[in-house]
Amino acid sequence: MLHVQTFSTKGIKKMNDRRPLIAGNWKMFKNGPEAVAAAIKLANLLGKNHDVDVMIAPPFTALAQVSDAIKESRLSLGAQNLFWEFEGAYTGEISPAMLVSAGCEYVIIGHSERRQYFGETDDTVNRKISAAVDHDLKPIFCVGESEKERESNATFSVLDKQVTSGLKGFSSNQLKALIIAYEPVWAIGTGKTATTDQAQEVHRFLRAMLENSYGNTLAKSIRILYGGSVKPDNISELMAMDDVDGALVGGASLDPETFSGIVHFQI
Ligand code: PGA
Repeated sequence: MLHVQTFSTKGIKKMNDRRPLIAGNWKMFKNGPEAVAAAIKLANLLGKNHDVDVMIAPPFTALAQVSDAIKESRLSLGAQNLFWEFEGAYTGEISPAMLVSAGCEYVIIGHSERRQYFGETDDTVNRKISAAVDHDLKPIFCVGESEKERESNATFSVLDKQVTSGLKGFSSNQLKALIIAYEPVWAIGTGKTATTDQAQEVHRFLRAMLENSYGNTLAKSIRILYGGSVKPDNISELMAMDDVDGALVGGASLDPETFSGIVHFQI
């Protein structure tokens, strides 16, 4: 039987079977003790209410400690990246199995900062998603256009290429736990947020792509998050959009009180 959740935001009713996910990407901020303190504070602020999935992704060095600290809470743990090999002579890299043993349930893959500063390509993103899937880690696959691409009307062709290449070779069965994050590069850390219409238009496009390739059932179940300057005061209107199923939050996830304000969007 289909489990349907109803969310009411500013009078707009939203009905689907997708459980919202609010994910915090802590990037290269917080050492071990700082991450643990923030995670505990956040867990206390959020309490045990389970209407929304909440994930935090601290730096690698804090993962195991944070995992211990949030065991009894509603928080889940994610990593910000992985390497696709199981083990080997790959200095500086972290394998999917290591993330699992550190307590991770999710992994962010293909963030625009990784594409921009660390040479990630659609091909490496594809291999990383595959490694995550093989180890039962839920991949949060990031896509998004640059400002220049949006201005030259290339948004949809850029996204089409990123999604098609990133998901090349997967069967619908392998993508059951996939999460997509639409993060327009021009909105990340800039204070500029996509309008709700811009976000909805892209999310609808992405869902239609999934439907074309994998069918309606999978397309309807995959969560598509919005990311880029999400804050407590813009989350509710974004979440009111039909195809926006959550958020990937950078800057505003670092402060537990602010992040908890985002998690409590639906009221
Ligand atoms: P931001 O970052 O919320 O600081 O814009 C989002 C992200 O990079 O995932």
